[in-house]
Amino acid sequence: MMKKNFILDYAHLLLKEYITSNDIVVDATMGNGYDTIFLAGISRKVYAFDIQEKAIEETAKKLNEQNISNVELILDTHERINNYLNLYKAVVFNLGYLPNGDKTITTHSESTILAITSILPKLPIGGFIQLVIYTGHEEGKKESKSIDQYFNHLDSDTYKVMKIELPFQDNNPPYILMIHKVKDES
Ligand SMILES: C[S@@+](CC[C@H](N)C(=O)[O-])C[C@H]1O[C@@H](n2cnc3c(N)ncnc32)[C@H](O)[C@@H]1O
Repeated sequence: MMKKNFILDYAHLLLKEYITSNDIVVDATMGNGYDTIFLAGISRKVYAFDIQEKAIEETAKKLNEQNISNVELILDTHERINNYLNLYKAVVFNLGYLPNGDKTITTHSESTILAITSILPKLPIGGFIQLVIYTGHEEGKKESKSIDQYFNHLDSDTYKVMKIELPFQDNNPPYILMIHKVKDES
């Protein structure tokens, strides 16, 4: 069902395809909890991270209202995911800042790359990272460039990186990167 934002709906479509009701998954950028709630509906358990109290409060409220109990909310940076859990099938990032929140609290290329670096070796074969990337703001442009450089050096036999974008749309629309681990790191 297509609703609010074409790329975000498409990102959810991909998650539905790859995540099963047995999987443990991570929402690395909880925000207002829309992705967290979506993930809760298709997986066994969701661990959701954000550095803002406001995100935890907003998401906890929604979880409560909807009686959702398979989610753990964690007030910490996604660079420390491995401090909280050992095993996960997928990690989802929706980069940037909260649309209706403090625009100075955005994800940053350095911490995003550090998080990705810590996650990749932990992924099982068949596991993946999904990133929704926004280039309509300055930090987002930087982030997009650093991410491109980083994945350009990744072993392409081990990791299959897929980009889903809207090449003919104006105004820097967001795009999706899917990084699938298809074999063990050698
Ligand atoms: C675009 S919003 C996420 C929207 C969210 N997925 C939703 O469904 O509402 C990005 C979020 O990432 C959070 N964030 C920024 N840096 C972070 C970090 N290092 N670790 C975890 N969260 C971070 C921000 O506080 C913000 O809430």
